Amino acid sequence: MTDHYAVVGNPVAHSRSPQIHAEFARQTGQDIDYTRLFAPLDEFAVTVRKFRDAGGRGLNVTLPFKLEAFRLCEPADSAIDAEAVNTLTFADNRIRGDNTDGAGLLRDIQHNLRCPIAGKRVLIMGAGGATYGVMHPILNARPERLVVANRTLDKATRLVAHFKQFERFAMGGVSAQPYQQLAGSQFDLVINATSAGLRDEMPALPAGVFAAGALAYDMVYGKRTPFMRFAADEGACVADGTGMLVEQAAESFMIWRGVRPQTAPVIALLRAQGKQ
Ligand code: ATR
Repeated sequence: MTDHYAVVGNPVAHSRSPQIHAEFARQTGQDIDYTRLFAPLDEFAVTVRKFRDAGGRGLNVTLPFKLEAFRLCEPADSAIDAEAVNTLTFADNRIRGDNTDGAGLLRDIQHNLRCPIAGKRVLIMGAGGATYGVMHPILNARPERLVVANRTLDKATRLVAHFKQFERFAMGGVSAQPYQQLAGSQFDLVINATSAGLRDEMPALPAGVFAAGALAYDMVYGKRTPFMRFAADEGACVADGTGMLVEQAAESFMIWRGVRPQTAPVIALLRAQGKQ
């Protein structure tokens, strides 16, 4: 019997998740279908319950519902830390919530791009939902130093304080800073978790922050952002978020089906389509 999954969002028409999960299902021989589910802004919970009651097995959750999804479920650790959920699983009358964004990012950076984080100097730009979603696995990877920079410093300070409350993380080398204070510092990995690139803007990152061989990672996918162009001009290796998109989907697929799909061919497929 075919098991039903979907991605729920508003808007949701642009989502690449159905194509990614269709590729995973074909590859692994899993009998699933995966569709797009539009939820009115004030009817997220109703939409989720209807889908579950009709026999749906799981949902990916995209903007703007990740916080609401968190309140609707029994969250796993990854979701508790992020206070956001991108994967809901329905079983035995319970709703389990996971956040696979961080695991997907880390898998792309450490495995696909071969950039281990342990002992490295890491800068993450932005202090919104995207950064909350990925802090847990970054901290678990034990960077030597982790700076959270944000235009509105107060938000970065609150984010760092939020993660300090969990005793499971070593927070010694973690700080919040405004962009101008970064001048003179160097980082091995710079992650852009701001939404600036979507509007062809970039954070006020000073020149000279990329250490030799540094990786510049933009979580935005399918476009070359001003941050990516800046980083390339500064001599950094540059990656967009296509790998993260596919890897977070693979983590969800793994939670739902207990099988890990191969991501490399799907990442290559999406990149090739992006160039058309
Ligand atoms: P979300 O929760 O969906 O990530 P958000 O809370 O609006 O959305 O966060 C977007 C992030 O991108 C914020 O860190 C924002 O910085 P501010 O907190 O100072 O607003 C950041 N951002 C967006 N446009 C930016 C720009 N042009 N320069 C620098 N940071 C920007």
